[in-house]
Amino acid sequence: MTGSAAGSSPFPGLPARRYVDPEALRLECEAVLWKEWQLAGHVSDLPAAGTALRYDLAGRSALVIKGADGTLRAFRNACRHRGARLVEGDRGTQLAFCVDSRLRCPYHGWTYDDAGRLVHLPDAEDHPGLDRSAFGLAELPLATWNGFVFVAFGTAAPRGSPWLGSGAIPADVGASAMRRIEEPVIERVAANWKVVCEQMLDRAHIDVAQPVLRSMCAETPRSSVHEDVPALEAPLDGRSAATWSVRAYGSALARGATAGAAGVPCWRRLLLGSNTFLDLWPGLVRVIQVLPEHATATLVREVTYARPETSSAARSERYLNARLWRRVRRTSLGLCERVQRGLASQAAGPGPIGSGELALRHFIQRVRNAEVDAPEPASTEGDTRPTARPTRSRRRSRA
Ligand code: FES
Repeated sequence: MTGSAAGSSPFPGLPARRYVDPEALRLECEAVLWKEWQLAGHVSDLPAAGTALRYDLAGRSALVIKGADGTLRAFRNACRHRGARLVEGDRGTQLAFCVDSRLRCPYHGWTYDDAGRLVHLPDAEDHPGLDRSAFGLAELPLATWNGFVFVAFGTAAPRGSPWLGSGAIPADVGASAMRRIEEPVIERVAANWKVVCEQMLDRAHIDVAQPVLRSMCAETPRSSVHEDVPALEAPLDGRSAATWSVRAYGSALARGATAGAAGVPCWRRLLLGSNTFLDLWPGLVRVIQVLPEHATATLVREVTYARPETSSAARSERYLNARLWRRVRRTSLGLCERVQRGLASQAAGPGPIGSGELALRHFIQRVRNAEVDAPEPASTEGDTRPTARPTRSRRRSRA
């Protein structure tokens, strides 16, 4: 499915209940999110042996540790003794440093090596006959692509991950040589995770509600799906925009200031799985992760990566991109909360999704059958019941 070919029959959205019901979220986690590859970080986020990353999603937690031999391994972030979390890490980067590549549980001191083996118990005499090999950390599937590190919460690697090696994405988006250029930005938005994802894939609203982004695009973004990867894409210009910083950004891109820039500069937004977006701009990649907390609360985590450029032209481009993006983000999250308030009133039915919204339709179809596909609940992990209605807040991490 590609381009913006019109379909003849109406394509309904999801019923409003799916955006407010805690049980619907549990089923979506079981049937969709916990089954997919999740982007845990970038290889450059694990700079040395013994560094570890934490990645949380809807009540589940994984850790990725770089071993002394340079191998990356992923485990459930839970001690095999009484279940305490092993790695917390920095609040925003989620990065931790494990001395001697050892993961020592803060509760009773059980200690694991970088291969997940239980190597030490302070109270070993209290556990006579304990088979340590039976209490190693639970390993999780791990994959790398373009410098990004992915984990999955199931015991087996997700089946059919077409974007890994997909022709839908350039074989090399250039991210392997990139580094995180700013601290992650985490926003809590009072909206269901699907509201956020749908807004990210909605091309029609850009003309109406995103004047800054639209003025940077030479035309209305095109919506497409290639090999199961939904995308928005538009050539960039911006030189006739009303906002000076957009004009400046457009002029900088037109000069090809970014090292390696070639052809018409473009913006591409790709959805990997169901909740991870890659925004590809000239010279940088912004990862945007949509992380459900509760049925009506979602964390939106953004991390920007770029090549380690030092030229003033490249720094200027990044500054102008970040300036533009702050305005887009503010508008986007405000729209999400506005939509959520309407959905929560149960006044809205499953309205039609336009024929040109191929990426949005694809996302909705992917999650539509979650209630059918979800297995019976098998564990108490991932308790996603809603608590009090959250208010939007913003956290910028501090290293
Ligand atoms: S819970 Fe980890 S050592 Fe007891």
